[in-house]
Formats: sequence, C-alpha cells, structure tokens
Amino acid sequence: MDYSLMIHGGAGAIRDPQRYAPSLRTIVESGARLLAAGSSALDVAVHCVALLEDDPLFNAARGSVLNAEGEVLCDASVMDGRTLKAGAVAAVCGVKNPARLAYEVMEESGHVLLVGEGAERFARARNVKFESEDYFKTQERVAELAKAKRARAIALDRSGAADGKLGTVGAVARDRNGNLAAATSTGGVVNQRSGRVGDSPIIGAGTFADNASCAVSCTGVGEDFIRTSLARTAAFFVEFRAMQAEEAAREAIRYLVAKVNGQGGLILVDRLGGCARAHSTPGMLTAAFVGGVARVDAT
Ligand code: GLY
Repeated sequence: MDYSLMIHGGAGAIRDPQRYAPSLRTIVESGARLLAAGSSALDVAVHCVALLEDDPLFNAARGSVLNAEGEVLCDASVMDGRTLKAGAVAAVCGVKNPARLAYEVMEESGHVLLVGEGAERFARARNVKFESEDYFKTQERVAELAKAKRARAIALDRSGAADGKLGTVGAVARDRNGNLAAATSTGGVVNQRSGRVGDSPIIGAGTFADNASCAVSCTGVGEDFIRTSLARTAAFFVEFRAMQAEEAAREAIRYLVAKVNGQGGLILVDRLGGCARAHSTPGMLTAAFVGGVARVDAT
C-alpha cells in the first residue's frame, strides 16, 4: 500500500457517534492529503493529533476533562518508527498543542519526557503557543466534573459518571517511503488526582512506533495500558510472532483483558500498511484512510 493513516478519538460507551463522525472524517482526509503529497508519517501523525487537540469534542488540549482541582493538565507523546526517536510531555498546563510540544522535546531537548513546569519553560523557550484557561475548559467538562464529584467517582472512573467515554486521541501513519509514526494526546481521566499521569505520554504503553513492526496509539484507562506495556506488546506480536495488523490489534486487546481486565482500545498500522483497531470497551471512535478511501467508524 502506498500510504495509510488511522486516527482515534477515544473509546468507551459512545452515546452519540454521529456527533464525532464529521470531525474524524475531515481530520483523516486532511492527513491523507499530506501523505499523498509526500509528507512524512511523523509530520502527519502530529498534524492529525494537533487537529484533534483543537477540536473541543475530544478529550485532548481544548475540551480536555478536568482533574479533581478543576485544572486541565495535558499529556502527549510522539514516536518516529524510522529512528526510534521519541518525545513526550506530561501534566502541562496552557500549551495549545501538547503533541507539537512532544515533537519539540523529541527533536530539541535531548530527552524523551519532560513534565510540568519544566516542560512549560521548555515550551516557552521553543516559542510553542500557549492559550488561556478559558480556551481549554468547556461548559460540558465543567458540568461533567461536578457530576463526577457528586457521584464520588474517583480518578479511574468506570461507572459512567464521565459519560462512559474514556478520552484520548491519537494517530498512526505509514508514509510513501514506508516509514511509520504514532502520536497520542489526552487530558487524562475526569476527576483524576492532580499529578496523576496515564499511559499517553509513556512510550511503549500508550504510544509506540518501529519500522520493523508497526505504529500504535492507545486509549482507555491508562493504568491498565502502563501495566501491560500495551503498545509495545502489540508491536512485539507483529515483529516476533509475524502477525499482521488485524490479528496483532485483536491479540493485544485480548492480552489487556486477560492480564488486567483492561478497559480501552488501540489503533495500529503495520509495516505493510495494514490498519486495524480493537477495543474492550463497547465502542471506539476511529477513522482510517487506506487504499485511497476514508472510512469512519464511530461505534
Ligand atoms: N488513556 C489516557 C489516560 O489514562 O490518561
């Protein structure tokens, strides 16, 4: 396949799938146009995640869930399958596009993961764009936190107090040169403790890419994905058990459930350009562009 792209907008009980479908289609088509024009998988993965971050419908950057203190603190990561270079940020406040900051960390910091105030200082030094608190906080998220607090839903809410949708957005891409990349971004879990970090900025848990196997982006209860190194586990299935995309995605989610009864999903593009999604939640929001055709799956 010439090039392939898949994006996701979270997993869970998707109550109103048609609300998300137009955004997913627009974003995957935008990324596909760049891949068709010769852009790298890395640039396109970051581009798509930045668009998802800008869209208040999704739990990443603008529209993120609020933590127990009523704050928006974001996590994101990127990985380049060609070089195995990676960058990530955790618990950053006010950064318009945490995925772009993760890219800067990868390229310019000499490190893989920067957190909190140090990450924000690095962002300012790199002229990364910031926005005010109002930009990130939607009325819907403020009401959602109040509801979670009333229900005493704690950080790892599986009760549905957070509308049953476990946020996070992500993208995986294979470009015309056969290079793979993945990017993931999240506001975390509604009513989480201040300082809690999930899987999204953890390379090998929420994000992984290696040209020798596949690119993976995960969504769901981050602790489950960290404890099973799930993105790396899916790549292991491709590289060492010769699985293609569909089988590797399915087996990785089977592993997540078998080991920790994990809740969530993943998207994966393999080294041949095959795309797949799998989830243990009732639904997952995804869009794919494979073989010249865009397909949205908002169920
Ligand atoms: N998967 C996002 C999180 O747990 O923070």
